[in-house]
Amino acid sequence: MHDPSQDMEQILLDPPALDRIISELAARIAQDYAERGDKTLLAIPVLKGAIFFATALLEKLTFPVEIDFVSASSYRKGAEAGALSLGALPDRNDWENVDVLIIEDIVDTGKTLSAMVEEFKRLGAASVRVVSLLDKPSRRSVTFSADYIGLEIPNAFVVGFGLDYAERYRNLPYVGILRRDIYEPSAH
Ligand code: PRP
Repeated sequence: MHDPSQDMEQILLDPPALDRIISELAARIAQDYAERGDKTLLAIPVLKGAIFFATALLEKLTFPVEIDFVSASSYRKGAEAGALSLGALPDRNDWENVDVLIIEDIVDTGKTLSAMVEEFKRLGAASVRVVSLLDKPSRRSVTFSADYIGLEIPNAFVVGFGLDYAERYRNLPYVGILRRDIYEPSAH
C-alpha cells in the first residue's frame, strides 16, 4: 500500500499544530462576533478544499452558527490556476441580517476570495469576512487580505487537510509540501 507521506517533502502542519492554529482562530472569531445582537452568523465553507478546516473550526465555536456552501474552482487538474468558476450562492431573503464568514483553505492569487466577497456584498450581507487556514501572499495577483489567517506560507505546493493535487491527498490529517517530482515529473 502506498504511503502518501512518502510523497511529501516536508510536513508543514501536523495534527497538533493544526489544532493549535484552529483553536486560536476560533477564539479570535468568537471574540469578534460576540456582540452581534440578533444577526445570524452564516459560515460558508468554499468547496471542496475548505471542508476539513471548516469542520474543525466550527466545532470550536460554541454559539449558534448557520452553515451553507459555495463552490469555487480555479485549479484545473494540475498545479497552475485556470479560469475561475463560482457556483450558485445561498438563496435567502434576509441578507441584511446576516454576517457572512467565508471559510477557505488557502488564499493564493486572491481572485477567488475577492470575487466571492464582492458577490456577498452585492447580495446585501450585513458584513462579509474571510478566514483562511493558509495564505500565500507572494502569489497575490489582486489586492486581497483575509480577515483571519492561520499561517502564512511560502510559495510551495501544499496538500492535505482538504488541499489536493489532481484530487488526491485531500483526506490526509496534516498539511504537507508535495515533492516537486510528483507534480513536475519532467523536472527530474
Ligand atoms: C483553491 C482554494 C481557493 C482557491 C484559492 O481552490 O481552495 O478556493 O484555490 O486560489 P486563488 O486565491 O488563486 O483564487 P481550488 O480551485 O483548488 O478548488 P478545490 O477547493 O475544490 O480544490
